[in-house]
Amino acid sequence: MERERWSSRVGFILAAAGSAIGLGNIWKFPYLVGENGGAAFILIYLISVALVGLPVVMAEILMGREAQRNPVGTFRILSRTGSPWVIVGYMGILAGFIILSYYNIIAGWSFGYFIEALRGAFSSISSPDDAARHFQLLSGNPLWTTLFHAIFMTFSMIIVYFGVKKGIEKAAKIMMPILFLLIIILVIRGVTLVGSKEGINYLVKVDFGKINGRTCLLALGQAFFSLSLGMGVLMTYGSYMSKDEDLPSSALNIVLLDTLVAILAGFMIFPALFAMRQEPNQGVALIFYILPVVFNTIPGGYLFRIIFFLLLSLAALTSTISLLEVITSFAVDELKASRKKAVIIIGIIVFLLGIPSGFSFNVLKDFKIFGMSFFNLFDFIAANILLPTGGILIAIFVGWYLGKRKAVEYVSQGAKNFPVILANIWIFLVKYVAPILILIVFLSCIGII
Ligand code: TRP
Repeated sequence: MERERWSSRVGFILAAAGSAIGLGNIWKFPYLVGENGGAAFILIYLISVALVGLPVVMAEILMGREAQRNPVGTFRILSRTGSPWVIVGYMGILAGFIILSYYNIIAGWSFGYFIEALRGAFSSISSPDDAARHFQLLSGNPLWTTLFHAIFMTFSMIIVYFGVKKGIEKAAKIMMPILFLLIIILVIRGVTLVGSKEGINYLVKVDFGKINGRTCLLALGQAFFSLSLGMGVLMTYGSYMSKDEDLPSSALNIVLLDTLVAILAGFMIFPALFAMRQEPNQGVALIFYILPVVFNTIPGGYLFRIIFFLLLSLAALTSTISLLEVITSFAVDELKASRKKAVIIIGIIVFLLGIPSGFSFNVLKDFKIFGMSFFNLFDFIAANILLPTGGILIAIFVGWYLGKRKAVEYVSQGAKNFPVILANIWIFLVKYVAPILILIVFLSCIGII
């Protein structure tokens, strides 16, 4: 059977940007900025995106486009027969199962909060403490968590079921413009509040005194996660791309959109936060404890809260479908399953796999493996071990195993305006800079340095 293709370049860019733009941008990026000194963190983040993010994005897309396969098939086709490189592909599939299973729990909460916002559940809650209690009531209820886990999984399954063009691309073309619109509405609301200036300053004033080793590690790690790198999402999406497309410029668009949304999320949250006299460095609690209450004090808050949780749910959904698609494409290419059957079976397996993560906020709260709850363990294995390892190996594969001549030839195919000098800079970043910097982050994540 012939491989499905994106119907347009824009379709591919929006789908890939949809994968990149997720909870990481809207939930994690603002709280990292808040905890690490504002603009100084953003600056280091931008440098990380340019030096490591963009080059590795290009490397991943290039591999998938060249091989026209899922991550396992891609490594098999591009390496010699019997070579151990396919293991990197399998690691990607494993990471897909793990990430989707716990990411979907938070995605389910977002949607659950959208429903709560619609019901007007927050209108009687006036302090972050009460909001925290409300959060504990909901996340502490295994039925609530599992129900929304199931609902959100079903959304992703329905979209991936319909395939690349009619499912993923169509969904991205509908959801991404809505997402951009919603975030712009919320940014305008935030920056027009009385007293928002301080929050804006917080985001744009660079304080070099705040930059240290830890800032750099966090920024690079976040850039990597935010761009969905290291497990073959972009490889899989790249495999539906034709070889006459301009790869570097598509990659640049994806990276710019992802970065833009992360920064806009900052401008959506901090001005409102400062205007309402809340502390910026609230960690994870920011989104589920502080914001619902902040909305109570701003004009039109009921509506803006609904918009916010809808935004969060849409951003999560375009990411969960990309994770599900990686595993599905593996089952379709390698195990010769039909897409429809594959989606249903994989969806059920991931749903079951995610249940313990959902339970780590309630019935399994005290159950620890290596001192971590299921949720934290899954996050640790995937985000701190599988993704950085995958990222280093992808960079090494393209930079050293394929080598400069082939890599540059593949990446420039279809890109008439890609100058040689940029190709040389790119391969230098892929060969040396990316593996070394990712290795440093990796060692620090597992506590070695
Ligand atoms: N990039 C997404 C975010 O920012 C998360 C994500 C989706 C992801 N797919 C991924 C992260 C694959 C790593 C690998 O929320």
